[in-house]
Amino acid sequence: MKGLVLSGGKGSRLRPLTYTRAKQLVPVANKPVLFYGIEALVAAGVKDIGIVVGDTREEIRAAVGDGSRWGASVTYIEQDAPLGLAHAVLISEGFLGHDPFVMYLGDNLLNKGITPFVEEFVRNRPAAQILLTRVSDPQMFGVAELQGDNVVRLVEKPKVPKSDLALVGVYMFGPEVFDSVKQITPSFRNELEITDALQNLIDRGCVVRPHLVEGWWKDTGKLDDMLEANRLILETLERRVDGSVDDTSQVEGKVVLEAGAKIVGSVIRGPVIIGSNAKIERAYVGPFTSIMNDVTVQGSEIEHSIVLEGSVLSELSNRVIDSLIGRNVRIVRQPVKPSAYRFMLGDNSEVGIRW
Ligand code: G1P
Repeated sequence: MKGLVLSGGKGSRLRPLTYTRAKQLVPVANKPVLFYGIEALVAAGVKDIGIVVGDTREEIRAAVGDGSRWGASVTYIEQDAPLGLAHAVLISEGFLGHDPFVMYLGDNLLNKGITPFVEEFVRNRPAAQILLTRVSDPQMFGVAELQGDNVVRLVEKPKVPKSDLALVGVYMFGPEVFDSVKQITPSFRNELEITDALQNLIDRGCVVRPHLVEGWWKDTGKLDDMLEANRLILETLERRVDGSVDDTSQVEGKVVLEAGAKIVGSVIRGPVIIGSNAKIERAYVGPFTSIMNDVTVQGSEIEHSIVLEGSVLSELSNRVIDSLIGRNVRIVRQPVKPSAYRFMLGDNSEVGIRW
């Protein structure tokens, strides 16, 4: 069994962060989203992993390396342009050979992992097996129609969905899929759709089995989903305080404080994670916040947010909530006249000011 992790794509819904960082490397609870996927594969016994990379190839390579830290072996597969999930399968035939494989979209998170999903495929060995979950907005996904234990029809982003069962970004395939990805043609969005390849398998009389997600699933491609994934992962952490906390501070509940982090005169109310060498001074860090290494929060309050490396929040008069703050960002109250907002923001930044 091999693994194929898709880690190309532009991440346009997470701009401006994704101008300078691959969307799969944006951290959830201080760990890149992509690492959760690799860990889920390894936990299911899949250690020979191909990662399909595009424009952000260098950054993905630098972060993941050869996979040895997970006891896995990683091969990089170059995709010249984001031409679809089925195109990624097509260009990976050399790596995959005749082995069955699990394909995992690198920005997806599943809290219960994929082990039962992989085991069921190995037991029944259909041509393909898909992971499904019920959603309230199926027209945003690939949608499956079932008859008993079989998938009979699949449509990508249907205008009038026939069910509320959406395709989640994890799929299992046997080598039968290669004929299908070669037979299909580009879709309305000019991509070779994996949904169409699955329909082609069904049309050729191959068996495609469904498997419903246990626990929760998140596609972390948008801000709201990112914050929700962060909240869900933080809830699963165990308290661990390796950093320093002075006598005037309170650290309550599920809090991970990495070595070298410093809490002075502050209240930290979990679930929260604070990275090494972060400094929290005269501040409040509230539930569902992830603060990465080398961040400074002083004289300010923050909750339900993600702050990336090296940023500074200083002397802010209102609490920061529901925010995703990139690397080396400075949000600083300035004691100069005229009293005003002063911005230097990247393209597609978004700022919400108190009403
Ligand atoms: C892709 C698939 C879609 C699936 C979704 C899950 O959509 O094409 O069938 O439901 O991933 O995240 P995309 O994110 O490319 O719009």
